[in-house]
Amino acid sequence: MKAVRFEQYGDVDELKVEQIAKPEAGPGQVVVAVKAAGLNPGEAAIRAGLLHDVFPAAFPSGQGTDFAGIVDEVGAGVDEWSAGDEVVGWATRSSHAEFVVVPRDQLVAKPENVVWEVAGSISVTGPTAYAALRAVQATEGDTIVVSAAAGGVGVMASQLAILGGLTVIGTASERNHDFLRSLGVIPVEYGEGVVDRIREAAPQGVDAYIDCYGHGNVEYALELGVAPQRIDTIIDFAAVERHGVKGEGSAQATTPAVLAELLGLIAEAKIVVPIDGVFPLDRVTDAYRDLEDGHARGKYVLGMDVVEYPGEREGDRAGSDERSDQAT
Ligand SMILES: NC(=O)c1ccc[n+]([C@@H]2O[C@H](COP(=O)([O-])OP(=O)(O)OC[C@H]3O[C@@H](n4cnc5c(N)ncnc54)[C@H](OP(=O)(O)O)[C@@H]3O)[C@@H](O)[C@H]2O)c1
Repeated sequence: MKAVRFEQYGDVDELKVEQIAKPEAGPGQVVVAVKAAGLNPGEAAIRAGLLHDVFPAAFPSGQGTDFAGIVDEVGAGVDEWSAGDEVVGWATRSSHAEFVVVPRDQLVAKPENVVWEVAGSISVTGPTAYAALRAVQATEGDTIVVSAAAGGVGVMASQLAILGGLTVIGTASERNHDFLRSLGVIPVEYGEGVVDRIREAAPQGVDAYIDCYGHGNVEYALELGVAPQRIDTIIDFAAVERHGVKGEGSAQATTPAVLAELLGLIAEAKIVVPIDGVFPLDRVTDAYRDLEDGHARGKYVLGMDVVEYPGEREGDRAGSDERSDQAT
């Protein structure tokens, strides 16, 4: 089967699509034929060696956490899944491949009306957003700021907060403002003066803050008067140490129950997951180049049935407003 591998830390060019042995299902395991697998910035950081102290790679390394696909084979003792079931799950550095093997309890059923690309790209961002919102004790009527609100985690956190009855202020570049408004988010441009712009957008004050970007956002939250226990950053762990704010993310909420709940909300069109680009497995380096550009609206996804890149390489970003922001 084809799988994404890298032999050493480095830039996107370290990513190779290689032929390796198809995995087999051991006891309690399930092999899934992957239909779609999302990309996450953390994977790029691991490949670059930036997370070596916390998540060291063993070479050659596979890659990829998110996936959705069709059960191909089940191991001894697995009676809840059968070949042909459509599933969504999470893997350890291995889902960017034609087949992935996971423990039986890292899967949930894919709702029929959620398309593969969406189903296969929320296993990291969804639970992370869920954990962050829970960590800040979000309460109906509160005003919350979400930084990088149009990104993979931010777009989920913003919509979950709106569903919970919060007023959501989301930081993003101008390009994403209409999109965020369409979700019910009050957009605010990031960059110099952002704290003043947030104050202006929230004369009632800010109760909670979810930071999906780092680079001073925790300090902005403190400057706005948000209590440390109502600030969660998913990226600035130095600020967690420094200020006693929360740092909860995927590790605190990646469970079948949370993933199933989020897929249910997507199936009911209560949450939309914008797909910024779908790439065939062979174009994995292009996919990561776009992701690492740092301006994803929602998710980039590897689609196993995609044979050609559907968009333009040059000027692609400028055309992105025409892309679909679909849920199902
Ligand atoms: N702790 C955890 O469990 C956990 C889990 C998942 C992710 N993470 C980390 O959390 C971060 C966000 O992940 P993600 O998947 O949401 O990333 P992403 O989708 O790549 O985020 C892209 C977004 O960042 C926004 N952005 C760019 N520059 C910005 C700035 N100066 N200020 C505010 N926003 C800016 C972009 O908005 P514009 O296009 O409008 O510029 C874009 O929408 C990453 O660092 C990731 O590694 C942590």
